Amino acid sequence: MIKVAFYDTKPYDKASFEKYEDKYDMKFLFLETKLNEDTVELSRGCSVACVFVNDTVDAAVINRLHDLGVRLIALRSAGYNHVDIRAAFGKIHVVHVPAYSPYAVAEHAMALLLTSIRRIHKAYNRTREFNFSLNGLTGFDLHGKTVGVVGTGKIGMVFISICQGFGMNVIAYDPFPRKDSGIEYVSLDELFSRSDIISLHCPLTEETRYLVNEKSIAAMKKGVVILNTSRGALIDTQALLDGIKARKIGAACLDVYEEEGEIFFEDRSGHIMNDEILSRLISMPNVIVTSHQAFLTQEALDSIAETTVNNILSFFNNDGICDNELCYHCGEIEHCRKERRKKCF
Ligand code: NAI
Repeated sequence: MIKVAFYDTKPYDKASFEKYEDKYDMKFLFLETKLNEDTVELSRGCSVACVFVNDTVDAAVINRLHDLGVRLIALRSAGYNHVDIRAAFGKIHVVHVPAYSPYAVAEHAMALLLTSIRRIHKAYNRTREFNFSLNGLTGFDLHGKTVGVVGTGKIGMVFISICQGFGMNVIAYDPFPRKDSGIEYVSLDELFSRSDIISLHCPLTEETRYLVNEKSIAAMKKGVVILNTSRGALIDTQALLDGIKARKIGAACLDVYEEEGEIFFEDRSGHIMNDEILSRLISMPNVIVTSHQAFLTQEALDSIAETTVNNILSFFNNDGICDNELCYHCGEIEHCRKERRKKCF
């Protein structure tokens, strides 16, 4: 039987995963706690640690998992910036869910944009109190506006086609432009200076960390709307806050936040919020925050569960071979071992 320590379990995870226990010879140990140095011991006796985006998977945790006999870290996410894949190399194999529903994230980005610019969040609160005044609710048309999309991967491309459906002009930046896509690729600087709306759909890497910062904000149009459904640290949040206070940024829609780790996914309504920047952002009338919710559709949950289970089964039943394994050499033409030997090590 394959035993899986399943960290950061939420009711919706359990509902989509537990049906596989009867189907296959698997046992999920559902843990509400996140993985970190204090909770790693809970993996004892398990051969898999299954983790999500705010679990700590640094070198210390990886080494302890290895000592405990865990052979596989199965990510329930596409992004793996929270995993020290260099430290895992040669010790524990890491698999992820490369794609589940790009529509879920792209549609959420558009939902945030429409909510923000048509002031739906305000109208909803007003009409619940029988306040039918329209004062202060003036929005603007998306038709004819220029949207700058950073990252034209799976999610970025779906978002682009949604924007095209609205009659928007799309410009994009990606170090690996898609050939023959018909997309107008521009430099990052040009994207910042021309866009009425900027939407981030690239991974968090050393190169993209604080892509939106004091300098790039200064280059943007006055009134720009910034959407981030990718990773919080793509934005220097203090600089964003300053840009909003200076009336330079017209609105911000954030599904992710650089310090979200200990805050998002939990009910904090009975607590004093210690994070001054997040509190200030949430108090702004032109900021909408959702707590890393963009992935949360039934289709995406089903797909995450199915791919994760298949990743685990493939690894244990197929001589450690799993198409969705990753390491820090992946994609490097000269060093990619998976292309030669079907596994990273
Ligand atoms: P993808 O791998 O299909 O596309 C990423 C794109 O970013 C690629 O085209 C790549 O060339 C491009 N890119 C790489 N470096 C770049 C740079 N320096 N500047 C601009 N573009 C760059 O990934 P996918 O599936 O489209 O996901 C994008 C991101 O969305 C993920 O990395 C993840 O952080 C985030 N995400 C957020 C979710 C949420 O619930 N909020 C759920 C799923 C993903």
